[in-house]
Amino acid sequence: MDQTHVAGEIEADQVLLTEKQVLDRLGEMAAQIEADYEGKDLLLVGVLKGAVMVMADLARSLNRHVEMDWMAVSSYGSGTKSSGVVRILKDLDTDIKDRHVLVVEDIIDTGLTLSWLITNLKSRGPASVEIATLLRKPEAVTMDVDVTYVGFDIPNAFVVGYGLDYDEKYRNLRCIGTLSPHVYS
Ligand code: XMP
Ligand code: MG
Repeated sequence: MDQTHVAGEIEADQVLLTEKQVLDRLGEMAAQIEADYEGKDLLLVGVLKGAVMVMADLARSLNRHVEMDWMAVSSYGSGTKSSGVVRILKDLDTDIKDRHVLVVEDIIDTGLTLSWLITNLKSRGPASVEIATLLRKPEAVTMDVDVTYVGFDIPNAFVVGYGLDYDEKYRNLRCIGTLSPHVYS
């Protein structure tokens, strides 16, 4: 697919993170994860759909065996704000009892969705549950969920690309950018 065509609607000064910046940072996070989980089995749990790209590149940066599983959740909310009331659309295939689970996320905004998810996963008796997210917005810093691995703290703007969508578009951009206002109208 011609990325320049897709990227056409994101102006150059709207690029927040290049593909190289993202991959370099994921490499650093992977090194940390390898060290922290040495000698332990590891199950990566990706949250669909946004975390698909992060999962693919983080998992391939890991120089060790991992398993991967997926969940899809939907947050009831009005407009773009999540309410913290969550419904499971697709549950894990894996029994996580006594497993070391690392939840892989694209972005944490208010943290409400993730907070619910972590409580849900912990009720299944895993050996541990930690979180790795590529992006974190300012509001999330104050939430009561500990995030062990954070790629980038970003400004409070709506971002797309690298798995993140606006109306299901832009997920396939290699970079991460903020949307030009004309795209909304
Ligand atoms: P909370 O607020 O519960 O929500 O942490 C996290 C989820 O909200 C979506 N989200 C975004 N999606 N660009 C996106 O494409 C953004 O800037 C953005 N901020 C939040 C996303 O689905 C995330 O999992
Ligand atoms: Mg998400």
